[in-house]
Amino acid sequence: MSTSLLEVEVHLDEQDLVQTMKQEVAHGLRQRPRQIPPKFFYDERGSQLFERITELPEYYLTRAERALLDRAAPGIAERCGCSELLELGSGSSAKTRVLLNAMKGAGLLEKYVPVDVSETMVRETADQLRSEYPKLAVHAVIGDFTRHLHLLPHGERRLVAFLGSTVGNFERDSAVALLREVASALGPQDRFLLGTDLVKDQAVLEAAYNDSEGVTAEFNRNALRVLNQQLDADFVPERFEHVAFFDRVNSWIEMRLRSTEDQTVTIPGLEMVLDLSEGEEIRTEISCKYTRESVEDLLREAGMKLVEWLPDEREYFALSLAARG
Ligand code: AVJ
Repeated sequence: MSTSLLEVEVHLDEQDLVQTMKQEVAHGLRQRPRQIPPKFFYDERGSQLFERITELPEYYLTRAERALLDRAAPGIAERCGCSELLELGSGSSAKTRVLLNAMKGAGLLEKYVPVDVSETMVRETADQLRSEYPKLAVHAVIGDFTRHLHLLPHGERRLVAFLGSTVGNFERDSAVALLREVASALGPQDRFLLGTDLVKDQAVLEAAYNDSEGVTAEFNRNALRVLNQQLDADFVPERFEHVAFFDRVNSWIEMRLRSTEDQTVTIPGLEMVLDLSEGEEIRTEISCKYTRESVEDLLREAGMKLVEWLPDEREYFALSLAARG
C-alpha cells in the first residue's frame, strides 16, 4: 500500500491539550452555576460510553441521522459534485463511510480530511480507510475545530461535514463564531453539511438523556473521572446525581451533576479547592434542539445560506446543506 496518500498534520500536542483543559475547566468552575465543558466527557472510557449511548433505545439521534444519511448521501454527493470530504470532529465515525461511498458512487471521491483532537483515533481511522479505499488520499488534521479552523488545508469542491448535532453543544454566540470560521474557509463551490437534532415532544427529548440503563448518568459522571485523571482532582463520582431536563426557553437539553451532600473537592492541577453544598449543581452539557427557522437563522448569522433542508419523516433530526453567502 502506498503511504504517500496519507498525510497527518498535527496542530495539537499533549501539553497543549492539558493547558487548554486547565484554562477551560478553571474558567467554567468559577462561573455560577459552575460548568465543566462537555468535551471533557471524551476520554477512552467516555467515548466508549458515548458509543453505548448511541445504541440505547431512547437515544434516537444517531440512528435518525444515520438513516437520513443513508437516504440522502447519494443525492447530496451528486448535486454537490464534491471530490473532497472534510469532517469536523470525525472521531471513529461510521457515518463517514456513507458519505465517502456516495462520493465514490458519483465517481468524484479523491480526498478525505478528518479533523479531530484525538491523534490515536484519527490515525486508526485513517489507516483503516486507506485500506478500504486504496485510491483515497487522506490528509488528517489533529486539531481542535474551535481553534484551528483557519489552518485547514485548502481545497476545491469540498463537502465540509459537521455531524452528530455536535453544534448543539455550543451556545448561540459560540456556535455563530464557529460557523463563521467554517464559512470563511468555504469556497464558492464548497458545501457545508450540518446535522442538527430538532425540537420535539419533551418526553421524547428527556428520555434520550435519562435512559433506563443509566448509561447517560455514567457518561455524565465520567467528566469527573477525567478531571481526576488529568488534574489530579479527588471527585467521588458516586457523590453526584445525574440531572437532565429540557429547557424550553433556551431550547436545549441541559445536563448537570448534583452534589448529594456538602463536600470539598481539591483540584491540585488547578490549585483549586471546591466547596460544594448539598444540592449544588454543575452544568456539564447543553444540547441545543433546533427548528428549520433556527438553523436558517444560525447559518445566516454565520454568513451561509441554506441550500437544502433534509429532515427525517418524523422530523426528529435534520441535515442541512449550506453554502457560503
Ligand atoms: C454528541 C453532543 C450530540 O448532545 O446528544 C449524548 C452527547 N450527551 N448523551 C448529545 C450526549 C448525552 C451528544 N452529542
